[in-house]
Amino acid sequence: MKITFVGHGYVGLVTAAVFADFGNEVFVIGHTKKKIEDLKRGIVPFYEPGLSELVKKNIDAKRLTFTLDYAPAVPESDLVFIAVGTPPTKTGDADLSTVLDVVEQIGKNLEGYTVVATKSTVPTGTNKKVQRILEETKPQGTEVDYASVPEFLREGTAISDTMSPDRVVIGTESKRAQELLTKLHEPIGAPILLTNFETAELIKYASNSFLALKISYANAIAKLSEAVEADALKVLEGIGMDKRIGNMFLSPGPGYGGSCFPKDVRALISIAKDNDYAFSLLSEVETINHQAKRDIVRKARKLLGDVRGKKIGILGLSYKANTDDIRDAPAIDIISWLQNDGAKITAFDPKAQDNAKELLPNISYADDMYAALDNADLLILLTEWNEFKELNFNEIKKRMNTPNIIDGRNLYNPSELRELGFNYVGVGR
Ligand code: UGA
Repeated sequence: MKITFVGHGYVGLVTAAVFADFGNEVFVIGHTKKKIEDLKRGIVPFYEPGLSELVKKNIDAKRLTFTLDYAPAVPESDLVFIAVGTPPTKTGDADLSTVLDVVEQIGKNLEGYTVVATKSTVPTGTNKKVQRILEETKPQGTEVDYASVPEFLREGTAISDTMSPDRVVIGTESKRAQELLTKLHEPIGAPILLTNFETAELIKYASNSFLALKISYANAIAKLSEAVEADALKVLEGIGMDKRIGNMFLSPGPGYGGSCFPKDVRALISIAKDNDYAFSLLSEVETINHQAKRDIVRKARKLLGDVRGKKIGILGLSYKANTDDIRDAPAIDIISWLQNDGAKITAFDPKAQDNAKELLPNISYADDMYAALDNADLLILLTEWNEFKELNFNEIKKRMNTPNIIDGRNLYNPSELRELGFNYVGVGR
């Protein structure tokens, strides 16, 4: 098939590269000249394991083409995917301006029969607007169907998530579009759920919000475990062994972050409000997430007395491991709050340091993880990067001023660290 993706963020670029790898001819449209020139040479604008290799392989095989222009990509395509960003507005709604601009451009360039599908997460009800724009802008004699095909990939494991997802959701009432989209997804071999447009959109918001809810539940249990001296990790392991609950997304920590969960929980609350439903369960999920971040600062105060003038070494800035993405990363809030209290911060992250420098220009950055801890009064671990899992704690103790550690991801063995002389504080134990 011939396919066009508009947008080359995590979703657009990964899905485009995977479909090209399956043998389709794929165009990717962007709007920044520099980024498109880089992509033509296989240079990916963000860090995602394996992606640059997959992109290069498919450029060389002439199945993946990057362009700034809608023609000839859109007129030649059987399918056009919209994969541009929908960042939150101040009120928590999704900002649809880029999506709607892109739809107009696609509409003008349609030829023959085309299925236009959105992978961007858009609120239920957007489809009517999009369908109207497509109908109004398409040239005479052309035919178009519109579908929602939400994406469930995670950053850091984006390629394997796309190649073997748990399910594919296709939201459209057009039989012709259902058939084309089903055929495209057949090589993936995942169960396909056919729904109407609104259902597909709600599945996306409801999935992300449910996962966020699981994490907040784990963080609430962690808080309670600390109060009653239970081990939250065992409690959560124990409940996760029940197949009806499942053991995934139950790791307590410094709160969920990233470009999806915070935005999508907020958007679902807002969609509910627009439909006269107060989704207070999700408001509580947000409150617990905020508390999880505040708790790290509270623990720092407890260990140090006053954090003013104290040196704190931070390991990990990205919102999770295997990505350089710092959007809504817990580290950003936690570091800012500690700085407001007068702490001196030195941070290290294997990949996210350059991105962090834009948001956190007034902290020091270390060249390696051990250097971040020189003369530190406290070590706070915020991202579960593999390279942080086996640290030389004897070396760290020698470098630190006082051996205090907050293990925000429960990576380390508390009794081993206490034996080495560390004041160890985890999350929920
Ligand atoms: C999430 C969803 O998992 C994907 O299915 C979805 O496609 C994507 O959003 C999206 O909407 O685009 P992502 O944000 O890449 O993916 O990362 P996750 O692995 O879900 O992690 C999100 C946050 O939750 C991270 O801050 C992570 O550290 C945190 N988390 C995750 C926990 O604190 N505990 C857990 O047990 C799991």
